[in-house]
Amino acid sequence: MAKRLCAMIEATPHDLYAEPFVGMGGVFFRRKLRPKAEIINDWNGELVNLFRCMRAHPAALTQLLEWTFSCRADFDQLKAADPTSMTDLQRAARFVQLQKLAFGGKVIGQHFGVCLDGRSRFRSSSVSEDLIAAGNRLQDVTIENLDWLAFIDRYDRSGTLFYLDPPYYGTETYYGDGFGRDQFARMAERLASIKGRFIVSLNDRPEVREIFGQFAIEGVGTSYGLAGNGAVEAREVIITNR
Ligand SMILES: C[S@@+](CC[C@H](N)C(=O)[O-])C[C@H]1O[C@@H](n2cnc3c(N)ncnc32)[C@H](O)[C@@H]1O
Repeated sequence: MAKRLCAMIEATPHDLYAEPFVGMGGVFFRRKLRPKAEIINDWNGELVNLFRCMRAHPAALTQLLEWTFSCRADFDQLKAADPTSMTDLQRAARFVQLQKLAFGGKVIGQHFGVCLDGRSRFRSSSVSEDLIAAGNRLQDVTIENLDWLAFIDRYDRSGTLFYLDPPYYGTETYYGDGFGRDQFARMAERLASIKGRFIVSLNDRPEVREIFGQFAIEGVGTSYGLAGNGAVEAREVIITNR
């Protein structure tokens, strides 16, 4: 799926690439083409803080994570800690640890995940390499922390390509309370009048096909892997205003 999305993004002419739900950047970091400007956004302030720290203080961040191991007691302690009492770097390190150690890479409602068929879930050397590579990639990228609608309003112009990866229909609460089911209809309404181009990826549900029915919809097969559970086949849709 990510491969297909990257190919579509690269085939769509644009000067400004804008991603309102960037999450951990699964598609953002895979693209090879670099347009004139790139802007990423997420409503989750902890995630945005991590991106800013990766870009500005990669060495300090990796140093903080150097002696981190896969340990349930550390996970529980970090989960219970109040990030508002921490420095930005400590908050970023906490976010990485919780994200890496949680079952299914969840952002809220996290549980400690144990890998039973391979190495433990946290390897500080490879985490450091990934963080440094991502920090380098972000050097010229603008990072926003807005609601998706305010982000679209701010960056919509004729040369913009928005790639939207909102929470899946039916799993809206998975990422906190920033996004409700009513937002899909609002999204279709707003996208119908944008000046630029857009690509939306979502799960293939009849409700999704109905809400976005005025646009081009391509169904694609994909598979999700959860540690220890093998791959699960699924259907997704790619929605565009071609
Ligand atoms: C499906 S994830 C994105 C996954 C990401 N594209 C990736 O490949 O890793 C959805 C993201 O939407 C963010 N989000 C939820 N509500 C939002 C809102 N109202 N505005 C902007 N982002 C929001 C969540 O914090 C989460 O990171």
